[in-house]
Amino acid sequence: MDYLSITKANTLHGSINISGSKNAALPLIAMCILAHNCVNLSNMPCVKDISTLMTLLQNLGSTYTFKNNQAAIDTSKILHTKATYDIVKTMRASILVLGPLLARFGHCEVSLPGGCAIGQRPVDLHLKALEQMGASIEIKSGYIQAKAPKGLKGADIVFDKITVTGTANIIMAAALAHGTTTITNAAKEPEVVQLCEILSKSGIKIEGIATSSLTIAGTSGKLIEIAPVAIIPDRIEAGTYLCAGAITKSSLTLNGANHEHLHAVISKLEEMGCTFTLTCNAITIHPAKNLRPINIVTQEYPAFPTDMQAQFLALATQANGTSIIEERLFENRFMHISELQRMGADIKLNGHVATITGKTKLSGTDVMATDLRASSALILAALVADKKTTVHRIYHLDRGYEKLEQKLQNVGADILRLKE
Ligand code: UD1
Repeated sequence: MDYLSITKANTLHGSINISGSKNAALPLIAMCILAHNCVNLSNMPCVKDISTLMTLLQNLGSTYTFKNNQAAIDTSKILHTKATYDIVKTMRASILVLGPLLARFGHCEVSLPGGCAIGQRPVDLHLKALEQMGASIEIKSGYIQAKAPKGLKGADIVFDKITVTGTANIIMAAALAHGTTTITNAAKEPEVVQLCEILSKSGIKIEGIATSSLTIAGTSGKLIEIAPVAIIPDRIEAGTYLCAGAITKSSLTLNGANHEHLHAVISKLEEMGCTFTLTCNAITIHPAKNLRPINIVTQEYPAFPTDMQAQFLALATQANGTSIIEERLFENRFMHISELQRMGADIKLNGHVATITGKTKLSGTDVMATDLRASSALILAALVADKKTTVHRIYHLDRGYEKLEQKLQNVGADILRLKE
């Protein structure tokens, strides 16, 4: 198993190219099920979650090529409609095939994703919405068995909670349904917006794009032609490297980043004392001399993203004073705290609220990554910790960060990938 060995960084300098967004690419891969043509996707991040979803589609009978961040996916020869446990258990976002498979074939089986490190993460809202669209759904032997032999019907869906993959699933189901679907309380994340924009360019009538009320006119089962797609930049990867600049007091430029997707993150870093130069496709962070503490509440977009909570928690250990970070989306997303405490961080956890007192001197030790974003928090802490830190179980990191150690090495970090 690979691990990372990280030695305290001096100031970092230079630029980092931001990859395509994993969370945008995943629904777009599932969207290929709605197409009769082979779909070309560029700026595709080369990370494990992406190859997992492409393998899932391949197991169903699709073909794909994936090289130099360019993918071509042809789902015209899909023979099977069962997404099996062995793949779904490794990546919850596999649930994204449920809506498109059901809409196209009128039946499918998708393994229930089960628990995950950051909390319960049920899929009840996806299922309830599909039932409202006329599907009959049974859970048997750990599988969601969904049927809609006459096709899905447009319906008025009101999500009780905002769900990102739930919204994407229902948008894709609605695209091939009979009639019109409305979604109230839809997610407005840029990744959902990109899905809507591409479907819209492919002839699906969608109103309300980028708002929480969507209206989608379905094609009554007719597959669509999807033109080439360029995946939007990864706002969470960009946010992570902004934190790397802030924690190491370095000026870094992120090429290909879209600051419009990072308002909440940039504004928290400004509160901490950092300043920015923003252009249409780059962000430069100018670090604070002394970081100020912050208060953060994670919420749905455009508010502060839960996917940046762990990184800011690491950053807050280096701010002068008391920071408070409240996690509102995932009840168990604080597993990185015990690892940061082992490095010397002063963090108290009370329910969903972490109180971080800084500035603390961190010291390197062996730590274990517990989920994707927790991994990057440990790496950020390691960049300023005395001595060497070894981060184990980085298969979590490989799910979502493309060439992280290479990108950090290029700006001067002392970080090595080694084998246990
Ligand atoms: C997506 C992102 C993930 C991010 C999360 C929140 C992808 C592939 N993943 O995950 O990186 O952390 O959004 O921004 O895009 N919920 C239910 N029932 C459901 C669905 C969700 O109760 O049927 C709850 C969840 O437990 C959670 C909240 O709704 O508390 C939001 O979850 P959701 O937006 O669905 O997260 P994901 O789409 O899984």
